[in-house]
Amino acid sequence: MIVVSDNDALRDYLDPVRGQSRVALVPTMGNLHDGHLSLVRQAKEEADLVVVSIFVNPMQFGKGEDLATYPRTIDADILALKKEGVDVVFTPGIADIYPQGDQAHTAIHVPLLSEPLCGAKRPGHFDGVCTVVYKLFRLVQPDIAVFGEKDLQQLLIIQKMVTDLSLNIDIQQGLTSRASDGLALSSRNQYLTAVERQIAPRLWETLQDCSQTLQGTATVSFENTLSQASDDLASAGFEVDYLELRSLQTLQTATDLSRDCALFVAATLGKTRLIDNIQISAAR
Ligand code: PAF
Repeated sequence: MIVVSDNDALRDYLDPVRGQSRVALVPTMGNLHDGHLSLVRQAKEEADLVVVSIFVNPMQFGKGEDLATYPRTIDADILALKKEGVDVVFTPGIADIYPQGDQAHTAIHVPLLSEPLCGAKRPGHFDGVCTVVYKLFRLVQPDIAVFGEKDLQQLLIIQKMVTDLSLNIDIQQGLTSRASDGLALSSRNQYLTAVERQIAPRLWETLQDCSQTLQGTATVSFENTLSQASDDLASAGFEVDYLELRSLQTLQTATDLSRDCALFVAATLGKTRLIDNIQISAAR
């Protein structure tokens, strides 16, 4: 495994092998947990050469968010990736991605899908994600890239960016990895206090209950079910940003299950914002 930290070194390594090897990219912000590693394993099954990027992307953090305190564990990350048999770890510096700073950089905006849910709560967040992912795509030029379903809105936005910009990259989705009590793995889980960590699995339980109720009877009121679920989370101690049923194709609000859709939730517990989702297929 090699670790490269600038664009030239990455190009020197990848240019000779491109074309002969199927290259996969797994973009990350580091602080790797088993959720990331399961995406890496998926990439390894699909490709001859796996590149994992580690870059805490300032452009996707808003004012007052946790950019400064976002956990950085580069040595442990490199060790974990070596154990997984990754070929290249790409750890660019800010100047490799944003030579004149992120504020002065051209941004990529994916309309419509970027507006609701986390887009409404975190203005500019998805522009930052799309810009860095596009940039990583240009630098690595992968055949495939793997993104987790845990960040389902992000995944849908990236799929649309790739289609709209005619990028010849196969975007693959990786299943959400969960702790044994159901909490979706996330680097931000470590911000939770011991008491909050006990409460946090309620998010996934609530999504599952809500999904079952919506699929239960034809007469169920979607509005009441969602509002009851939101109230349940609030009673458990969450401050709920949103709990919504949205179409997977458009991310418009869904009022029935005639199309593939998902329940999306974002809620803050103490100082930690958690997100999760559950998909509901139309062909049940
Ligand atoms: O999901 C993430 O960790 C980040 O949003 C990504 C895709 C690595 C872009 O910075």
